[in-house]
Amino acid sequence: MSDLPSSMFAVIQSHDGYSGTATGPVIADAADWLENATLPVSAPGAGQVLIKLRAASVNPSDIHFIKGEYGQPRVKGSPAGFEGCGDVIATGPGAEALQGLRVAFVAAGSGAWAEYVVTQAQMCIPLRPDISDEDGAAQIVNPMTAMAMVDIARKAGDSFVVSAATSQLGKLMCSLGRDLGLKPIALIRRAEAADMIRDAGAAEVLVTGDAEMTERFAAISADLKPRVFLDAVADQQCEQVFCNMPNGARWVCYGKLSTELPKLTQMGQLIFMNKRIEGFWLTQWMMSTAPEDQMGVVAEVQARFADGRWKTDVSERLTLTDVVPNLADALKKSDGKVIITP
Ligand SMILES: NC(=O)c1ccc[n+]([C@@H]2O[C@H](COP(=O)([O-])OP(=O)(O)OC[C@H]3O[C@@H](n4cnc5c(N)ncnc54)[C@H](OP(=O)(O)O)[C@@H]3O)[C@@H](O)[C@H]2O)c1
Repeated sequence: MSDLPSSMFAVIQSHDGYSGTATGPVIADAADWLENATLPVSAPGAGQVLIKLRAASVNPSDIHFIKGEYGQPRVKGSPAGFEGCGDVIATGPGAEALQGLRVAFVAAGSGAWAEYVVTQAQMCIPLRPDISDEDGAAQIVNPMTAMAMVDIARKAGDSFVVSAATSQLGKLMCSLGRDLGLKPIALIRRAEAADMIRDAGAAEVLVTGDAEMTERFAAISADLKPRVFLDAVADQQCEQVFCNMPNGARWVCYGKLSTELPKLTQMGQLIFMNKRIEGFWLTQWMMSTAPEDQMGVVAEVQARFADGRWKTDVSERLTLTDVVPNLADALKKSDGKVIITP
């Protein structure tokens, strides 16, 4: 460690634990949740690596997390940010194979919004040279989730429903679905995004604000018979979508973009139509999926980014020092990721 810097700039969390609120992945001012700090650079322990950051992405989960609304407690004073890419510049015992490699990583403990990150070697994926740093910074959370969830849909039928389809994850799932010969039914908020999402791979596009949306969905559902609803919105209209799906349909909630809490209106469907409501969390998928199967998914993800079938749309670029003053405004832009660089 002697030739490594002793201190680093980091964007740290100002709060501990859970907040008990459910206000969604939006912020008025990042300074309510984050502050700048100079922290010591830690040495990697057993099975860990030290990464020099190239780029980090901002996901809704990062915003849920800093607000204390995610499935893990915050640690006050610890850098924020779950995902990024960078160069492994030091390794602990057992992680030597990653020394010197450019990797995509998920931060476990010390966050990605810092000049240096310590994480587990298991949370790192060496990147092919033909993948850009920006694609590398968003290579795990959304792409792996897209692969895992479209696989759930593929096993259940020829069509599936995806809400918030203009999200990065929604676009990845529409294009993957089309490539697998499936018919994605996309639910979007912005009518002007309909052509874009059709081009991305959606077979049908419905705008959630349309007065006839539920009736139109019911007709499409009767025709295409989608058996899986991949839902990141989870509001009352989503419950109505689920109610208009056929026998055996599964409502897979994987995000909570809406702050509205839906009521269940058709309990009989769970009994008589074998319908199911469930959740999906990538962390759980990683813990329960065999390493060789995960490696197959990783290889396919990188191949799709390398040949251009998938890409990371970028809405705004911030340096680490810009995050606290400018993140809230940067997140207001639709259709793309905020990318943070050192
Ligand atoms: N469970 C897991 O393991 C897992 C893994 C990855 C991601 N996720 C979840 O997947 C979702 C999408 O992630 P992402 O990174 O792809 O997001 P993103 O690119 O940041 O896009 C989110 C988009 O959703 C739309 N949206 C926001 N609030 C909405 C609302 N209340 N109702 C309907 N649409 C809304 C907006 O698009 P418009 O402005 O165009 O409407 C927004 O741009 C998030 O909920 C995230 O937490 C879950």
